[in-house]
Amino acid sequence: MNAKTSCLLALALLLAAARSFAATAAIDIKDFQFSPATVTVNLGDTVKWTNRGSSTHTSTSDTGAWNSGNLSPGQSFSRVFSAEGTFKFHCAIHTSMTGSVVVRSPEQTRIQTGKDIIATKVLPITLNLAGKPASAVNMAYLGSYIVNAQSGCANCHSCPAYQAGHNPYKGQSKVFNAASYLAGNVRVTGGGIVALSANLTPDATGKPAGLTLAVFKDALRAGHDPDVPGSLLQAMPWPFFGMMSDYDLNAVYEYLKAVPKLATPTAQCASPGQ
Ligand code: HEC
Repeated sequence: MNAKTSCLLALALLLAAARSFAATAAIDIKDFQFSPATVTVNLGDTVKWTNRGSSTHTSTSDTGAWNSGNLSPGQSFSRVFSAEGTFKFHCAIHTSMTGSVVVRSPEQTRIQTGKDIIATKVLPITLNLAGKPASAVNMAYLGSYIVNAQSGCANCHSCPAYQAGHNPYKGQSKVFNAASYLAGNVRVTGGGIVALSANLTPDATGKPAGLTLAVFKDALRAGHDPDVPGSLLQAMPWPFFGMMSDYDLNAVYEYLKAVPKLATPTAQCASPGQ
């Protein structure tokens, strides 16, 4: 493979990866097939059919749930899928043309998104999932979704949070800094004091922040400082995280067990989100 081809291939892979975050999946209508014939999408995503052929075609649901009507060459039709399941369709004019849209469940959508955050290299880390059963792998990806897309743990627990030149707060394309991901040492103000965020990556025995599941949950639910018995965490937003279900907290712990082990950086960051 020459440099140009490998460059194009890398670009194609990058675009393919970026696309999996997109909320619209494209199906090309050709003479005479749907391409791809099956798309799998997240709950709430849009599917857009575009007629790339030279004949008139339709996207018609087998059960009558939708009908694009006649689509001339170049015309498109879009539909939002807000229920999980498999939805078959065909072309009403050329009935041998068939396809299906597979819509993930809410749970599968969260797991897939947690996986995509890493697969698209927005968060360029490799999870340590070797030898884990599929159930634990799914829990780790669910944890990725909760930690990265919902809780902002990395904003406070990574110093710096973003790769140089990729800080979204500066209008740059977002990439988390893998070399400091969740390794702590950010100054966060709370309760009138400045606390340094903890290193949440696994210790030598594989425990996130060196904490057992029970102590970890107690810190997030009740704010008990694992390092200073009798005192409450002041900067950590545990009053919010403490409302997560046990299942979700287990997923967060499973994810933190799988992130790369890192030493706490020597330098401190002056504030979250740097
Ligand atoms: C607003 C910033 C902020 C966010 C967001 C945040 N943390 Fe923290 N966290 C801190 C700070 C600062 C500390 C240090 C203790 C304190 O609060 O006084 C801490 C401490 C902790 C501790 C205790 C560790 C120890 O051994 O002392 C755990 C566990 C923890 N955070 C987990 C998380 C997880 C998991 C998330 C995301 C779900 C998260 N944190 C989000 C700021 C934050």
